[in-house]
Amino acid sequence: MRLDRFLSETTGMSRKEATRTLHRSEITINGDVVKKGAVHVPEDAVVEWNGTTLTLLGPTYIMFHKPVGCICANDDLSHVTVFSYLDLPNPEKFHTVGRLDLDTSGLLFVTNDGQWSHRITSPKHACEKVYRAQVSEPLLPEHVEAFKQGLKLHGEVALTQPAHLEIISAHEALVTLTEGRYHQVRRMFAAVGNKVETLHRESIGGVQLDTDLEPGEFRDLTAAEVAQLAG
Ligand code: URA
Repeated sequence: MRLDRFLSETTGMSRKEATRTLHRSEITINGDVVKKGAVHVPEDAVVEWNGTTLTLLGPTYIMFHKPVGCICANDDLSHVTVFSYLDLPNPEKFHTVGRLDLDTSGLLFVTNDGQWSHRITSPKHACEKVYRAQVSEPLLPEHVEAFKQGLKLHGEVALTQPAHLEIISAHEALVTLTEGRYHQVRRMFAAVGNKVETLHRESIGGVQLDTDLEPGEFRDLTAAEVAQLAG
């Protein structure tokens, strides 16, 4: 890889900034000052910027506790985005694995590995997602069967895939889905005459949101979690 590209991938600086940084003699490869952006960076080279080693990010998998009021987009003028919480040198190389609504909190993965995220979001793999919902109207046992049979959502023809509704208390339930249609949980409750007041995603593919993560906090997924989700 060319040095100027290496610098922009590891630090997020533009090509122009990389050229200026190189001209200021701030970059070394294996201890030697290098001033030309076109220079090839060998795989095992140690590249330093003013003494700090720069490392290329390989495939990266992040668990994020999305707070309410934050949007799953790379840029947004009126809302804080997921990426403003994550300290990534090149956020445009990353994407969220599926989306949560502005008003939904909970488990969200962020990655730069498109194949891995496809396994989680593709309907073919029917990856289970569990949501905890607080609703305005009392939950009724017949809704459990309705969720299992599939519901017709407003404006759609195909019924939803069988979903599991577990009633926890009069106004609280856990919902397990294997698909991810737009505002699906909210629209499923609307289809049975109820209204979601709060919605929180607890798990994806058996991986639970880490209880040590406060809203807005994140950590790397463990190798075991990455493998479990790819499986
Ligand atoms: N279903 C919803 O209605 N909203 C979400 O954010 C996720 C699932």
